[in-house]
Amino acid sequence: MKGLITVRDLGPDQLRAMIEEASLLRDMLDRHEEPDPALQGRCVANLFFEPSTRTRLSFELAAKRLGAHVLTLNPATSSASKGESLRDTVLTIAAVGADVMVVRHLEDGVPQSVAEWTGLAVVNGGDGTHEHPTQALLDAVTLSRHYEGLEGLRVGVVGDITHSRVAGSLLHVLPRLGMDVTLVAPTNWLPADTPHQTTTDFDAMIPELDVVYLLRVQTERGGRITDSYVGNFQLDEPRLARMRPDAIILHPGPINRGVEIADEVAESSRSLITEQVRNGVPTRMAVLRAVGL
Ligand code: CP
Repeated sequence: MKGLITVRDLGPDQLRAMIEEASLLRDMLDRHEEPDPALQGRCVANLFFEPSTRTRLSFELAAKRLGAHVLTLNPATSSASKGESLRDTVLTIAAVGADVMVVRHLEDGVPQSVAEWTGLAVVNGGDGTHEHPTQALLDAVTLSRHYEGLEGLRVGVVGDITHSRVAGSLLHVLPRLGMDVTLVAPTNWLPADTPHQTTTDFDAMIPELDVVYLLRVQTERGGRITDSYVGNFQLDEPRLARMRPDAIILHPGPINRGVEIADEVAESSRSLITEQVRNGVPTRMAVLRAVGL
């Protein structure tokens, strides 16, 4: 694999293979075993032009666990602040010796541009409202470790779908693995043209779902938190009580407590949010191994 800009390039077999590899790596990490240093002597550059906690740190640890050298650019203290263009910045980092670049940017399409400018393997760490491929992969890993089979699971993706790059990847990955997706949101956050079922009635949908996948309101991309949204779509304790007894809650993080999820729901045993974060490192190891060899 030359890079990972979009999950649309991954067919069901490739997805399943990557999920299986990530899950094996997760088991190894849990046993405190050291994986093969498959990227020894290689250099992974983390270029995050937008804030991140989970994605940046887990890519950094994933690269180190595979034996790679890691470069982490801090845009605020880089020469970008002296007027260096994005293209010149990434060409400089390529010249320093990066073999793989992980790129997050507020604009759609920047990881693709970086791949074209540098000719290097580029992994999309989240671009604008476009895609966040490794988030969708780690979500699939989390689901595959929780359920015996994914075929036929009913997943409700709830919230600010139009501004979400997580949804941009997730809505391709889940159906390719046989899951049935319903988009649950106020009308203004439902995409106009979608192959998925849609509803504005979260309360009616809750008892039907195996998985409630909550999204953060993307205020940095134009999403607006309203009392009406919180009242009708927040997963609070009464709504949690109406979920199927075996249904689970996912959220890509960061969570906004008191907006899309109530405090006590975030802490409940039905929430696999921490498990998603744990699966981030092995998933990104599997991706780096696939693109960095
Ligand atoms: N889910 C996610 O991308 O989180 P970060 O912004 O913390 O990386």
